[in-house]
Amino acid sequence: MNPEIFFVTGKGGVGKSTVAAALAIKKAKSGRKTLLVEIGDQSFYKDFFSLSSVGHEPTMVQENFSVALWTGQSCLREYILHLIKVETLYKLFFENAVMRAFINVAPALPELAIMGKATSGPRNHGPKLPFDCIIIDCYATGHFAALMGAPVGMAEIVKVGPMGEQSRSIDRVLRDPRVCQYFIVCLPEELPVRETEELFDQLKANYGITPQIILNKFNTKSLSEAEFVAAEACSNAEFREFSKQHRMLQGMHLEMRTRVMGRDPTTQTLPMVWSHEVMQVLEVLAARLK
Ligand SMILES: Nc1ncnc2c1ncn2[C@@H]1O[C@H](COP(=O)(O)OP(=O)(O)O)[C@@H](O)[C@H]1O
Ligand SMILES: [Mg+2]
Repeated sequence: MNPEIFFVTGKGGVGKSTVAAALAIKKAKSGRKTLLVEIGDQSFYKDFFSLSSVGHEPTMVQENFSVALWTGQSCLREYILHLIKVETLYKLFFENAVMRAFINVAPALPELAIMGKATSGPRNHGPKLPFDCIIIDCYATGHFAALMGAPVGMAEIVKVGPMGEQSRSIDRVLRDPRVCQYFIVCLPEELPVRETEELFDQLKANYGITPQIILNKFNTKSLSEAEFVAAEACSNAEFREFSKQHRMLQGMHLEMRTRVMGRDPTTQTLPMVWSHEVMQVLEVLAARLK
């Protein structure tokens, strides 16, 4: 069975890392050997899961569940070392004028290396990544767009040879819904919703991808119209104000859910979990995820 690859993205602070971790817990519990990957120089999950360190090589958190921190450089280095060892391709890669010029002018190379590593299983290419499920926490949407665009961009620059071929094969896997799934995490607020709509449309137009939307910190304690009317007849002014605010919040959340469901009718909502215990939060969210 091919590994499943999930990309989790969305605006800063909406809960991407939390949702990605909850999805990883869910997959691990279902018996899938799961790797949760964060991208960048600094690990968020190190403190989140109280680990002593997180690096390029997977660190086990619990049974079936490991985390890793990938950078463009760590992925590229691992890939090149793999080629040298296995195929002695170092010269082909680095000691020719085309590649030297290319590496100097290839701003998308780190992103390509990351996407190459993420898709190495289904492409059967590169160092082994022995996981059934890979979940990638992609920070800000701008960086996610750069990751997605890297293979096509590279294939346009380098049309022939192994680099062109690999770039096209990465792009094909990224567009294959049997292998890759995309989650846009969103808060029920105007700006994140607008950004989600835009990203959804871009992924569809540019790659034919249909992302899934997750509306995080969604109000789950809904009151009926009659309950609001009763609350607003209460003699306690503070309570009346509280009720009025909750009514507005509820209205806004429902409006935002209608908006995102216009894009993804299968949008999932996740509640705000009132706990400081990371594992407790993740387990509640994992149980809610489909
Ligand atoms: N459903 C939730 N319930 C409770 N706290 C949440 C939930 N989702 C996210 N958080 C908290 O919100 C903050 C931002 O979440 P985080 O996952 O770091 O966002 P991002 O990765 O998008 O920047 C963190 O403090 C996280 O613990
Ligand atoms: Mg994050």
